[in-house]
Amino acid sequence: MKIAVVGATGAVGKNMVKILEELKIKIEKIDLYSSLRSKGKKIKFKEKEIIVKELNQESFNEEYDYVLFSAGASVSKKYAPIAAKHGSVVIDNSSAFRMQKKIPLIVPEINKHLLKKYKGIISNPNCSTIQMVLALNQIQKNIGIKTIVVSTYQAVSGAGNLAIKELIEQSENIKNDKKIFSKQIDKNLIPIIGETLENDFTTEEEKLIKETNKIFNSKIHIIPTAIRVPVIYGHSESVYIKTKKDTNKEEIKEYILKSEHVKIYENDLLTPKDVENSNITYVSRIRQIKEKEYALWIVADNLRVGAATNAIRIMLEHMKINGVDHEENI
Ligand SMILES: NC(=O)c1ccc[n+]([C@@H]2O[C@H](COP(=O)([O-])OP(=O)(O)OC[C@H]3O[C@@H](n4cnc5c(N)ncnc54)[C@H](OP(=O)(O)O)[C@@H]3O)[C@@H](O)[C@H]2O)c1
Repeated sequence: MKIAVVGATGAVGKNMVKILEELKIKIEKIDLYSSLRSKGKKIKFKEKEIIVKELNQESFNEEYDYVLFSAGASVSKKYAPIAAKHGSVVIDNSSAFRMQKKIPLIVPEINKHLLKKYKGIISNPNCSTIQMVLALNQIQKNIGIKTIVVSTYQAVSGAGNLAIKELIEQSENIKNDKKIFSKQIDKNLIPIIGETLENDFTTEEEKLIKETNKIFNSKIHIIPTAIRVPVIYGHSESVYIKTKKDTNKEEIKEYILKSEHVKIYENDLLTPKDVENSNITYVSRIRQIKEKEYALWIVADNLRVGAATNAIRIMLEHMKINGVDHEENI
């Protein structure tokens, strides 16, 4: 297997490399790309040191089986079609292609069937969307969901390496720069993520609405509020759902437990700290409000579940569904 990671020095890219390192499948070649800024940096991969290369038009003359992009939408728009043209399956973590009709938007536990015989660009959804749809998947499948009201509590790592640095420098009184976040993020929160649209929702909130319905192939009424909080790793979500069919709390729990890579965190308080480096989405505080109405608390590692893990699960499922036999399950 020949693999390339574009954006390998980024918050998500570093996790992609770590997860690839944990796999048992044979990787004959791995190339790591960044911008000029990180060219020449060394990244450890299975006892070897790999030298990061600067991405350019010729990078994809090398025929990779899979190219994982995690370097922002503009880089993906420019280079992902070139990689796809050279025959690689591209798994793109940016928002560049997610809502294009012909591009599959994949959470393998939900819609991996779309990968059968597919070659080209595959989109990885937004971090908040992935953990929400994973937790709600079997509820949607079994009894249908009519309405979702979700408030997200998103870690700064969701905005990349520089955002982590900005929070740490503010909290340690090193600098009070506000380059990534428009207001102080330390000891504060910011109730706007992304650009504000004409309908007063933000681009980040719009992703939750559109991506969820694309993945579920549904028309769920979704009302999101996305909030940035001074947490480094782990996105949390307070979610209200109204189901189509009636059920009870015990059955809601059974549906959640039936969802692959999702667990209920029963006996303890579930916080973002508890999920750092985990590939599992956790649900807790399951409450019934009244008939067909429930409230949940969903937490996952945004860099793993919300990005790198999902991308690599897409790669592994794509291999399997298209005839490369392996036993990996992350
Ligand atoms: N963070 C998350 O939780 C999350 C979740 C889902 C999706 N995403 C998406 O994943 C992508 C990366 O996010 P991130 O948080 O990892 O960002 P990040 O920490 O800022 O890292 C960005 C990466 O892209 C590279 N890069 C930037 N410009 C480049 C260029 N012109 N050519 C080649 N490489 C370039 C950077 O290389 P240098 O080291 O050279 O700067 C770095 O490796 C974004 O599209 C983001 O929206 C992030």
